[in-house]
Amino acid sequence: MKDLRADFPLLTRHPEIVYLDSACTSLKPQAVLEAERAYYAEFGACAARSSHSLGRQAGEHAEKAREQVSRFVGAHSHELIWTRNATEGLNLVACGLDYSKRRQVVTTEMEHHSVLLPLLRLREEGRIELEILPADSEGQVPLARWQPAIGRSTALVVTHSLSNVTGTGQPVRELAKLAHDAGALLCVDGAQGVPHQRTDFGRDKIDFLCFSAHKMLGPNGIGALVVSPSQQSRLRPLLAGGGTARSVSLQKVEQADGILRFEAGIQHYAGMLGFAAACAYLQRLGMDEVERQGRELGARLDEGILSAGGRIYGPGSGPSGLRTFNLPKAKPHDLGLLLDQRHIAVRSGYFCAQPALNALGAGGGAVRASTYVYNTDGDISRFCDELSRLAPLYS
Ligand SMILES: Cc1ncc(COP(=O)(O)O)c(C=O)c1O
Repeated sequence: MKDLRADFPLLTRHPEIVYLDSACTSLKPQAVLEAERAYYAEFGACAARSSHSLGRQAGEHAEKAREQVSRFVGAHSHELIWTRNATEGLNLVACGLDYSKRRQVVTTEMEHHSVLLPLLRLREEGRIELEILPADSEGQVPLARWQPAIGRSTALVVTHSLSNVTGTGQPVRELAKLAHDAGALLCVDGAQGVPHQRTDFGRDKIDFLCFSAHKMLGPNGIGALVVSPSQQSRLRPLLAGGGTARSVSLQKVEQADGILRFEAGIQHYAGMLGFAAACAYLQRLGMDEVERQGRELGARLDEGILSAGGRIYGPGSGPSGLRTFNLPKAKPHDLGLLLDQRHIAVRSGYFCAQPALNALGAGGGAVRASTYVYNTDGDISRFCDELSRLAPLYS
């Protein structure tokens, strides 16, 4: 992939920075900043409600954005509900389904807290039975562990397409089949998968797909939940308010149709336009190329971490250039701070996936280096050099 740093204002302003925290949040290209600015500067009005020309323009741009983002994940625009982020979509699905006939939800210990916490709360409230599948020593949950767990009492299967701890994924298509054969639904946490590999909601027969713009070059505060129309009617919205009803009297409310039922209140229109610009940017690069670069940078991270004497958690080799590791005797936050003093930004701690780190034997936390499209070979060399200079401090 060609060097894209010039497209990213933060990197041109701070050429010394090596940003390796993209699994947390990505940097934004100029095209995304410009799309957000254009909304406020050029039409800035409420979409779909105000019939004046500024409102109509806002509406047209918002609907084009919906088309662009849904196309990016192989879905139709009438299937995409705007959310604040992946977390909101995951909560909407977990809390919005009816568990009166089937009570079981199946997930894994490798999930992000945004999957686990809503489910643990439902379990605490006695609303669901929760089956949490254990991972193997590399953080993988093979299909053979899923098969016996999914059955006639399963309402929902929830898992990630790529993990934010190991960078490797679950076999989404096979899980959809397993779930559907048992009459259950599949919810995919695509927060890491959608930014790093081709995602096809329709082909893979996913029932619910949640993701965030900010991890894929887009703005903060906007995400999407993709749901097929047949499942939309089974989902209870989290919020009700402006825009979610067709007619309201004090005696009777007629709900709006389809996705509109879920989008309560004035929406983040600038975010939608920025999100669409991010998808367009990634599409121009090509998602196969994005994945290829992620794998390549990931393999280079492996070399550097291992030659510094580090321990990598997970099998490596995932589609994103993400590696979670520790240097023996080094406290993760100390190492993170030392790297930061050298202008290298990594994440340290539990990455909102504490059970996953416990399962991998990293109960004291770990360090995570995660790449994205703006990272270069030179960035990885800088990271590896600094790590090998720091390693002797801990020997
Ligand atoms: C795998 C995974 N799921 C869910 C989330 C939650 O995403 P957000 O904070 O954008 O809602 C994250 C964020 O790090 C993640 O990595």
